[in-house]
Amino acid sequence: MPFLSDTLSRVKPSPTIAITNKARELAEAGRDIIALSAGEPDFDTPQNIKDAAKRAIDAGKTKYTAVDGTPALKKAICAKFSRENGLDYTPAQVTVGTGGKQILYNALMATLNPGDEVIIPAPYWVSYPDMVLLAGGTPVPVECPAQTGYKLTADQLEAAITPKTKWFIFNSPSNPTGAGYTRDELKALTDVLLRHPHVWVMTDDMYEHLVFDDFEFVTPAQVEPGLYDRTLTCNGVSKAYAMTGWRIGYAAGPEALIKAMGKVQSQSTSNPCSISQEAAVEALNGPQDYIRDSRAVFQRRRDLVVGLLNAAPGIRCPEPEGAFYVYPTIADCIGKTSAGGTRIGNDEDFATALLEETGVAVVFGAAFGLSPAFRISYATSDAQLTEACRRIQTFCAGLK
Ligand SMILES: Cc1ncc(COP(=O)(O)O)c(C=O)c1O
Repeated sequence: MPFLSDTLSRVKPSPTIAITNKARELAEAGRDIIALSAGEPDFDTPQNIKDAAKRAIDAGKTKYTAVDGTPALKKAICAKFSRENGLDYTPAQVTVGTGGKQILYNALMATLNPGDEVIIPAPYWVSYPDMVLLAGGTPVPVECPAQTGYKLTADQLEAAITPKTKWFIFNSPSNPTGAGYTRDELKALTDVLLRHPHVWVMTDDMYEHLVFDDFEFVTPAQVEPGLYDRTLTCNGVSKAYAMTGWRIGYAAGPEALIKAMGKVQSQSTSNPCSISQEAAVEALNGPQDYIRDSRAVFQRRRDLVVGLLNAAPGIRCPEPEGAFYVYPTIADCIGKTSAGGTRIGNDEDFATALLEETGVAVVFGAAFGLSPAFRISYATSDAQLTEACRRIQTFCAGLK
């Protein structure tokens, strides 16, 4: 009898974490490495948020809290949804977990039965398919190429829906492409969903605040109120307030689902960190200047990186609407050989040779379900980004 579960054998470890670890190992061995693989803001958490956490410790807010969030945080989340998204929720419709990741996981664990299908537009955030597998469901990836802006079309969604579809996972702006759906593009999808009342929507709005130029962020239940009763609107403070280490994510949706998610959490981690919850209240209720400031910095970096990558032979880099990622395609690099002698048969070969020969760590497209491409996280300094792109240009120019 095997010791490890059959379920676990279907799941792969996170490739982004694996690449980041490899880059760290090379750096520790003395190599000059620029890691563009990790998905977190390079800024510090704003001071007012840190101060709130310190006050919470001093006030003894160091005990268990209600499993799925303190009343104060749930109230702040309701206010946020009303203020920023025009969505009305009561505290009983809100749940708080240890990061956005736990929220999504709770929802899938609480709802999936064997054979249930989950539609996931690809390229996707690496964890979606594996979380679905862990919860016993079947991921149904749908490829959305660069030609359609890495966005799912209404026809593709219609074709992917079967009687077994339970969830449609929607992520805008997207990790890994940065693609953001306009109101019209999202409306085309919600119109399809209206025709299929058995399909629920799990929208991951983690990058809501990181949108550029005049792009207007919208979320499904806002665009189509007819979907309110079968939409789980997920969000968190990790990316919006540079709080990745604090581990607070949240969601709002129908009360019965929220209760079921709390049940999963009550038998796994219990409440998210009490101090982090106090910090999250301040993040949501306090001054919001950080959001505006970080958005301006990320927009400048996006422009820098897109310009430099498009100057590299064989690379085409679409301009994303948001997040802090770009997802350039590399079809013209495949089949060539690098200056260091590696044959580039696929995007994993490209990323491996790039790391070994130039010290730049990126994540290959196959990890996100759409090849040949790679993802760069541009949440690092302009100087590092310029140097990394210069190395990528030289690497590409050396492909023969
Ligand atoms: C699209 C997306 N959703 C959810 C998460 C998870 O966020 P958290 O760190 O709050 O668990 C991430 C983090 O990389 C993400 O990119």
